[in-house]
Amino acid sequence: MCGIVGYFGNKNGAEVVVDGLKRLEYRGYDSWGLAAVGEGKLIKHKQVGKIGGFDLKRDLPKFGGEICIGHTRWATHGGVTETNSHPHFSCDKKIAVVHNGIVENYQELRSDLEKKGHKFVSQTDTEVIAHLIEQTLKITKDKTEAVRQSLKKLQGSYALGIIFEDEKLMIGARKGSPLVLGVGKDQTILGSDVPAFLKYTNKVVFLEEFEMVAISDQIKGGYEIKNVNSGKTVKPKITTIKWDATEAEKGGHPHFMIKEMLEQPQVIEKTIGMGKGELDKAAKMIEKAKRVYVVACGTALHAGMYGSYLLAKINKIMVQPISAGELHHFAPLFKKGDLVICVSQSGETADVLEAVKSAHSAGAKVLALVNVMGSSLMRAADFSLLTKAGPEICVLSTKAYVSQMAMFVMISGALSGKISNAKKVLGIAKKDIEKILSKKSLEKIKKMSKSLAKAQNIYALGRGINYPNALEACLKIKEVSYIHAEGFAGGDLKHGPIALIEKGVPVIIFASDDESEAEIISNAMEVKARGADVIGINYRNNEVFEQYLPIEKNGFYSPIASIVYPQLMAYYIALEKKFDPDKPRNLAKSVTVK
Ligand code: F6R
Repeated sequence: MCGIVGYFGNKNGAEVVVDGLKRLEYRGYDSWGLAAVGEGKLIKHKQVGKIGGFDLKRDLPKFGGEICIGHTRWATHGGVTETNSHPHFSCDKKIAVVHNGIVENYQELRSDLEKKGHKFVSQTDTEVIAHLIEQTLKITKDKTEAVRQSLKKLQGSYALGIIFEDEKLMIGARKGSPLVLGVGKDQTILGSDVPAFLKYTNKVVFLEEFEMVAISDQIKGGYEIKNVNSGKTVKPKITTIKWDATEAEKGGHPHFMIKEMLEQPQVIEKTIGMGKGELDKAAKMIEKAKRVYVVACGTALHAGMYGSYLLAKINKIMVQPISAGELHHFAPLFKKGDLVICVSQSGETADVLEAVKSAHSAGAKVLALVNVMGSSLMRAADFSLLTKAGPEICVLSTKAYVSQMAMFVMISGALSGKISNAKKVLGIAKKDIEKILSKKSLEKIKKMSKSLAKAQNIYALGRGINYPNALEACLKIKEVSYIHAEGFAGGDLKHGPIALIEKGVPVIIFASDDESEAEIISNAMEVKARGADVIGINYRNNEVFEQYLPIEKNGFYSPIASIVYPQLMAYYIALEKKFDPDKPRNLAKSVTVK
């Protein structure tokens, strides 16, 4: 995880980098730091905690330089201390490095460098990179070449930003962790993802695996990309990003979480506007496949589960969902002719990328449903459909979930040759979400959440098409409110979970106008008989519901709207408990390590 930003240009680089780090905080927020070259000196600042409230002009007015790198950390190697925070430096303090990833052979490299006299100050794997470059520079005077030679010795993953005190040069490199180059007029910016610098440029180069970039005034065009292994120059492919920079701003909202939940109707609108051609292509891949799997993590897996129910019910196609983290137990069984649908917001989740490798090595095809253009998943898949969430900054995935479910609806429509029907049902979902997000409804959820915030445990039940929502609702609640929450399939209730039900425990019931309505209502009665406080989400009220949250009749498509209620509950419970909904403890948005 972790986020990195690097600036080379004619502005105060530190301002751009601090701004970029604030946008990358979803990747980690244990500590942060900066290094800049100002007036020929390499200066640094490191701090434990979040960067959120930091103001460069107020807190560090003298800090600046036209070349600057910065890092926001999610600790893996070494505790959360100022010393362990990035940037890390060489012995002579003339080389500064920020790193996202894990250097797997750092112990071996470190002891070798220590034997050669290098003194280490931190417990991190990253520091070894700065010393390794310093050591290589004793043999190779060319800095870019010294970095390249050093990178060849690293095992594991890296996205790097490297600067030097004695040369106007910034180097970036990637292997296994994302790194994007923003190319603007008179400025070149490195970032772990596009929103880090979208404000300054929407022209980007997505670095490929084993690529490094040297940025310098001495290079024609300002930068040069090379392959780390061969040393050969690579022609850059510049992509224009269509996201609007304001989409990655809070836009007057107190948190990204509420802003992103409020954007859900537009997300559906954009999905409805998708082209038939790409949907038909995805549908063909599914039709042609002998066996179909959907592989993803967390929220994206829940969306994949929803897709598997939908394709079973509407298109009579069996799709097996598998958690990407568990896939290696099954991947040896993949065969030529299989299709693996990978669902991911970031497109950088390590376990999902591993799934792509396993599928390809078995001769299976990969269809990606991915939100981030140019992400590793998008580049590795045989074909990708870009979900329409736009930049999702809050660590908790909300609008991406809705966009992924909506994408499955469109795919299902393409499979049955009825895209117009898919658009119609999504239109109903969109209007329904608008109602759920109305002022009056928000007030109601806020009020409910006040008492939910006192609960020790919260449960959710759903059957069939509503089961993934029961899991997703509880994931949202536990992630941000730290209340124990668990979702169950209604049919499993009597096989154990009912033992947990006691007086006053809130149970959210997901019901809709499909064949399992009567059964889930009986589950609601069973838990109510044991003292539960039943919160019912359905198109019609029922006497078993203590509290009733209305949705429209929309059959198998109802879950797209009904998930918005628990998303809002999670948000308001977090506020009630004085937690920051955008930065839940221990979590980072993009899980780029296994
Ligand atoms: C939950 C959440 C995570 C992600 C999961 C997959 O709110 O955000 O469970 O859904 O880490 O991430 P992506 O979709 O980027 O592969």
